[in-house]
Amino acid sequence: MKTELVVGDIGKHRADMLVVNLFEGVKSPGGATGAVDKAIGGAISAAIRDGDFRGKWGETLFLRPGKGVAAPRVLVVGLGKREKFTLDHVRQSTLPVMQMAKKKKLSTVASVLHGAGAGGLDPEDAARFLGLGAVLSGYEYDRYKSEKAGRVSRFQVVEGNRRVAAKVRRGLSRGAKLGEAINWGRDLVAAPPGDLRPDGLARAARSLGGGKVRVKVFGRKEAEAWKMGGLLAVGKGSEVSPRLIVAEYRGGRPGARWTALVGKGVTFDTGGISLKKWEGMEKMKYDMAGGAGMLAAVRAAAALGIRRNIVAVVPAVENMLSGSAYRPGDVLRMMSGKTVEVLSTDAEGRLILADAITFAKKRYRPDVILDAATLTGACVVALGSVTMGMMGNGAEVLGRMRDASAASGERAWELPLHEEYREQIKSDVADLKNIGGPEGGAITAGYFLKEFAGDTPWVHMDIAGVAWMEKEKMGYAPGPTGVPVRLLVEFLQGGGGGDA
Ligand code: BES
Ligand code: ZN
Ligand code: ZN
Repeated sequence: MKTELVVGDIGKHRADMLVVNLFEGVKSPGGATGAVDKAIGGAISAAIRDGDFRGKWGETLFLRPGKGVAAPRVLVVGLGKREKFTLDHVRQSTLPVMQMAKKKKLSTVASVLHGAGAGGLDPEDAARFLGLGAVLSGYEYDRYKSEKAGRVSRFQVVEGNRRVAAKVRRGLSRGAKLGEAINWGRDLVAAPPGDLRPDGLARAARSLGGGKVRVKVFGRKEAEAWKMGGLLAVGKGSEVSPRLIVAEYRGGRPGARWTALVGKGVTFDTGGISLKKWEGMEKMKYDMAGGAGMLAAVRAAAALGIRRNIVAVVPAVENMLSGSAYRPGDVLRMMSGKTVEVLSTDAEGRLILADAITFAKKRYRPDVILDAATLTGACVVALGSVTMGMMGNGAEVLGRMRDASAASGERAWELPLHEEYREQIKSDVADLKNIGGPEGGAITAGYFLKEFAGDTPWVHMDIAGVAWMEKEKMGYAPGPTGVPVRLLVEFLQGGGGGDA
């Protein structure tokens, strides 16, 4: 899909559908919506007057005006209360628009810039979120559908004010680039688990190579040489051996410190010998969403020219059960030298992440490590599918992540890593055990990782609840959301560390 700016009068613009908007409670629309309303004989204000449309958040009004404007269709989207309207609402507002356009198989959609006039948002920011939203909302995984979804070929923003054109164009392009990188990652997450095994994830990562991105894929031999006991153990039950995917992006000055992005890449999580129940197991194809997200973040960083040196490290395994699988009771020696007693083969994510964190530390000496993982069901219980769990070992980096979360609109809620939680992952036979019991499960998993991050500033994101939506919510269609790529890109673009 092409996203582009059109400078001119929206009423005269030819497109398959025009999109205008209304804040809740507005009786006579102004701006571009007012102009369209006038041109089509007051159909929008009549709908408001008769109570057919109130501009509530999520509400839409579809019109076939017949004459008055060049386009055959007009869609009015409700933006809700003006005081509650944020940049992320701009993104969210695109979902009903693109859904309708896809259903009607329209090819060109032309929209006004929401929120930049009466809403008081910065035009460049509003355009960035609109471009991002259009690309994200246009996404559909229809690979295995005989009847393909409609594809919008052009999303245009029509702006009458020439003076903001350059900013709007820039915002639109940056938002669309980010959206495209995210959709690339969503395709990986949506792929059936038999289509995308550790070798497949590595192949997808290789396609990122070129320009400032260098991709290296390591296999069992290297993992053995580096004594990655966690990665090797979890991968043992599968016919496809584990991979360690490393994608370096050199956008910073030579010699600047690395930011390491570590993402869980379990292409399918059966639970292993500690087998999961059959119900819902098919969803465990999204257990690589953290890994896909980190690779997508590198793709976005390259597309946006972010000035920072970034390395994504994705341990990729398939957690299967077979005669060669690792067992509860096994004791693993991790790359860091620490030993871990396995009590559940289903708590596999932390084992592969621990080795990946150690690898990142040893190889890259990063000044910050961020990890993302669909790590625990406990995090889903604690926070639902509205916000990710976030944990870390330093106030400064956690503060920067909080800021990035607020600016990006991707919610992250901090859970504490108080020292007392360490008790729960003490083992009788080894340094640690891989589960911490029923209490505070998201935290004890985070605590386990903290043991390996050591004193490198580190933040862990548990995205188990937010990487996949069951139902449409918060402007996400059902399926992979692409979380936490927007938050990461915001963090990477922000000041401090790396290139500074
Ligand atoms: N991949 C799962 C976590 C998960 C659960 C992700 C639900 C998405 C939705 C993880 O590997 C796992 O199985 N965790 C166990 C840990 C337990 C054995 C300590 C869990 O959460 O039940
Ligand atoms: Zn598991
Ligand atoms: Zn898992």
